Amino acid sequence: MFYRLLGDSVQIKELNDTIKQIAPTNISVLITGESGTGKEVVANLIHSQSKRKTKPLIIVNCGAIPEGIIESELFGHQKGAFTGAIESRQGYFEMADTGTIFLDEIGDMPLKTQVKFLRVLETGEFMRVGGNKNIKVDVRVIAATNKDLKNEVQEKNFREDLYYRLRSINLIIPPLRERKSDIKVLFYFFVQQFSRNNNLTFPGIDDEAMDYIMNYVWTGNARELKNFIESILVLYPGQKLNLENVKKHLHPETEFSSPLPVIVNRTQYENYDKDFFIRALAELKSDIIDIKNLLNKQEIIKIKNSVSSDDFHIPKSRIMNMNTDEFEKEYLKFLLSNNNWDVKKVSAILNQSLRSVYRKIKKHGIRFED
Ligand SMILES: Nc1ncnc2c1ncn2[C@@H]1O[C@H](COP(=O)(O)OP(=O)(O)OP(=O)(O)O)[C@@H](O)[C@H]1O
Ligand SMILES: [Mg+2]
Repeated sequence: MFYRLLGDSVQIKELNDTIKQIAPTNISVLITGESGTGKEVVANLIHSQSKRKTKPLIIVNCGAIPEGIIESELFGHQKGAFTGAIESRQGYFEMADTGTIFLDEIGDMPLKTQVKFLRVLETGEFMRVGGNKNIKVDVRVIAATNKDLKNEVQEKNFREDLYYRLRSINLIIPPLRERKSDIKVLFYFFVQQFSRNNNLTFPGIDDEAMDYIMNYVWTGNARELKNFIESILVLYPGQKLNLENVKKHLHPETEFSSPLPVIVNRTQYENYDKDFFIRALAELKSDIIDIKNLLNKQEIIKIKNSVSSDDFHIPKSRIMNMNTDEFEKEYLKFLLSNNNWDVKKVSAILNQSLRSVYRKIKKHGIRFED
C-alpha cells in the first residue's frame, strides 16, 4: 500500500497535497486520467487517509457490469423484484455504508442508472430494485474515468447535471509523458518491487538506456512501464541493461518478437504484419524443403537396398556408402540408359515431374551419350 503517489514532478506533488487536503472530508471526488495513470491508486489513497479508513472501501467497475443488472448490483433488490430474485439482496451502496464506494469507469454508467446515482449523491437516499422504501446510507463517493466526460455530455451519453455535480472536485492525473521526472522514480520503484518479490538482482542500467526510457511515449502510462520492467528483468536476469536491450522491447515495428503489447500506429502495424507474414512464409518454405529432403533420403535408402550391384556395375557396399547426390546421379543414369533415354518414362518411374527430372539431369551433368 502507498502513503502517497510516487513521483517528484510538480504535478504529482500538487496531487499529493490535494489528496491530503480533501481526504479527511466527505466530499465526492472525480478522478480523471488516461488508462494506467494511477486512478485506482489515488482512490485508495483518499480512502486510506480519510476518517473512514477502517470502514469498507467497495470498488465497482461500472464498465464491467451488464446494463441489465447494474441497478440491482449498486442498489440491491427486493425478493421477487424480477425473475430469479428469490432473496432480497444488498447492493454495493449498502455494503459501503459508513465507508467509501469507488465507482470506476463512471463514463460507462447507463443513463437510467445515472439518475438514481445523482439522487444518492445529493440525498444519500435510494430504493432497492422492486422496493418501496427509501434507504439512507452514509457513503463517500469517489468516481473515475478515462473518458472525456464533457464530450460524453455533448454526445448525450452522460447527464449534464451529474457531470457538474461530480466535477466540483476533479483530480486530473496527467499522462506519464508529461511528467518525465516521474518515469525515473517509478522505474526504480517497480524494479525494486519486482526484484524483491522474485528474488532477482538488478545490476543497473546504462545512462543512454535510461534516457531512452525517459523519452519514450508511454501510451499505457505507469502500467505499461511496470509491465515493461517486469518483462525486461525476466529476460535479462542479473544483467546490466543497455540501450540495445531496451530498444528491442520498445520498438515493435523493428523487433517483431517483442513480447510486450505496445500501441503502434496503423502504418507501423501494417509493416509489422507484412514482415511477420514474409518471415512466416520463409520459415514454412524451409520446413517443406526439410521434409522433402527427409522423404527423399528415406526413398533413396529404400532404392539403394533394392538395386543390385550388377545393374550399376558398382559393388553393393560402395552403393550403400554413396551420399544422396552421388547415388541420385548413378541411379538416374542407370534408369535413363535402361529406358532408352526416355526422360518422360523415367519421370513416370520416379513419380516426379518431367521438369524436375530435367533439372536433375542438368544438375548432375548427365550427358545422353554416357
Ligand atoms: N504514482 C504512482 N505510484 C505508484 N504506483 C503507481 C503510480 N501510478 C501508477 N502506479 C501503478 O501503475 C499501475 C496502474 O495504476 P492504476 O490501476 O491505478 O491505473 P488506472 O488509472 O486505474 O488505470 P485504468 O484506467 O486502466 O484502470 C498499478 O500497478 C499502480 O500500482
Ligand atoms: Mg483503474
